[in-house]
Amino acid sequence: MYSKNMGNTYVFVNQKGGVGKTTSAINIGAFLAEADKKTLLIDFDSQANLSSGVGLSGVKPGVYELISGVADINEVIKETSVPGLFAIPASIDLSGAAVELIEQQERDFFLAKAIEPVKSVYDFILIDCPPSLGVLTINGLVAADKVLIPMQCEYFAMEGLSLLLQTIKRIQKLNPRLDIGGIFFTMYDARTRLTQQVVRQVSSHFKKQVFNAIIPRNIRLSEAPSHGLPISQYDPQCIGAKAYKMLSEELIRRG
Ligand SMILES: Nc1ncnc2c1ncn2[C@@H]1O[C@H](COP(=O)(O)OP(=O)(O)OP(=O)(O)O)[C@@H](O)[C@H]1O
Ligand SMILES: [Mg+2]
Repeated sequence: MYSKNMGNTYVFVNQKGGVGKTTSAINIGAFLAEADKKTLLIDFDSQANLSSGVGLSGVKPGVYELISGVADINEVIKETSVPGLFAIPASIDLSGAAVELIEQQERDFFLAKAIEPVKSVYDFILIDCPPSLGVLTINGLVAADKVLIPMQCEYFAMEGLSLLLQTIKRIQKLNPRLDIGGIFFTMYDARTRLTQQVVRQVSSHFKKQVFNAIIPRNIRLSEAPSHGLPISQYDPQCIGAKAYKMLSEELIRRG
């Protein structure tokens, strides 16, 4: 069988809430699909924001049924409004899974095992994680090849980043493939001096890892999910769409 690149699984992680993990997963995924890259989004957060953002709110079976062994991977992969973009939805049930997993020996490997059969089918697999470094995020990191770190340009961003980098080092013992795929800035507001300082500081520390594309604060990006559409379909000409398109092109180039 024709086999896709095996280093294709990316996980969006930042233990801080509301930094743009889900928005980025949806919109980067959509632009990858539009560039003819067959892409699978995995909602691994019981808030299920990614699922509603791609019009799959309340759809089951989903990722909980997958990792608990009740559903087969092919039953949980759903089509979205974007050709070539697929998604595994989540539901509030996933919060129970976090507790169930803690008690099991193989608890860190459930997601990795569950997606193994489809890794060769997609050009990109993007996993959206909750805002914590708990068992779900650990599963995401163990299942991934690369971590993508969205950062909001604010004062405590650097502190949060060093904790996250320590966690990634720890996970590399469980998953030696794991590498940093990149850091990118979200909700950028050029009018505030602090924003510019944070970008400069992080960029000078992590030269190679920082993406050139910066995601601006853009109201259209926050409106799109309530229509169940990625920005590429909701408003492809807005500045937020252009920034996510650039970011996805950079991701393709970096491989
Ligand atoms: N660039 C942007 N401009 C304006 N609003 C944005 C932008 N990116 C995200 N938002 C909005 O900010 C909020 C948080 O974004 P998002 O849900 O993507 O963050 P998150 O990191 O996934 O949050 P959580 O940690 O709760 O999962 C959402 O309401 C989203 O619509
Ligand atoms: Mg989220």
